[in-house]
Amino acid sequence: MELKRVMDNVCWAFDGRKRLVSLNLTPSKQVYGEELFEFQGKEYREWNPFRSKMSAALYKGARPLELKEGDTVLYLGASSGTTVSHVSDIISNGGKVYAVEISEEMGVNLVLLSEIRKNIFPIIGDARKVGELGMAVTSCDFLYQDIAQRDQTDIFIKNVSKFLKRGGQAAIALKTKSIDVSADTRRIVDREVKKISEHFKILASIDLYPYQKGHSLIIIKKG
Ligand SMILES: C[S@@+](CC[C@H](N)C(=O)[O-])C[C@H]1O[C@@H](n2cnc3c(N)ncnc32)[C@H](O)[C@@H]1O
Repeated sequence: MELKRVMDNVCWAFDGRKRLVSLNLTPSKQVYGEELFEFQGKEYREWNPFRSKMSAALYKGARPLELKEGDTVLYLGASSGTTVSHVSDIISNGGKVYAVEISEEMGVNLVLLSEIRKNIFPIIGDARKVGELGMAVTSCDFLYQDIAQRDQTDIFIKNVSKFLKRGGQAAIALKTKSIDVSADTRRIVDREVKKISEHFKILASIDLYPYQKGHSLIIIKKG
């Protein structure tokens, strides 16, 4: 087995095949049935690109995200916490991830996860309501959004404008079918990227196929 660093607490592991792993903040505990394994006295969790769009982007050649130990992260569309748990590994005990989820049903698992992982702060609420989010969050070093809604781009622009620090990086997992079921995927991505570029600098636009069909990850920098 060999490890090659990608970003804080994230590596490519080579053991006959290449897979992305994150250093497990809570050793011996799985979050979504992912494989755990030991290497040189440390425990790692496989970061599955079919379960996480952030992982899929790295498999598709995205440059390492500007997300590091100690960061404060605003995560919109947390669901039950699959990707949030890897963000929690990356930022480690010195960081905080505010995980926003609208569904109370999904929120139950997220709250349970936050009892084990102390750097996760769940917020059961609507990412559109930035005024309400502002009661818990003041600013963040990195913002991530994965919300399959028609107005996902507007939600992203609004939240990045309000919460991301100047010079910070953010990423949105765009689900084109949620914006328009009938239009051509490429055209929707181009249109949404253009809209985002009117506010922020676009660093990358990555089609996540075949790991996540109909999704692209758009990475931006706030000037
Ligand atoms: C595709 S899932 C997220 C998967 C998750 N990011 C992961 O990788 O583990 C999208 C989530 O966004 C949530 N969602 C949809 N609209 C929302 C909103 N306005 N505010 C917050 N969460 C929302 C949904 O309930 C759903 O759980």
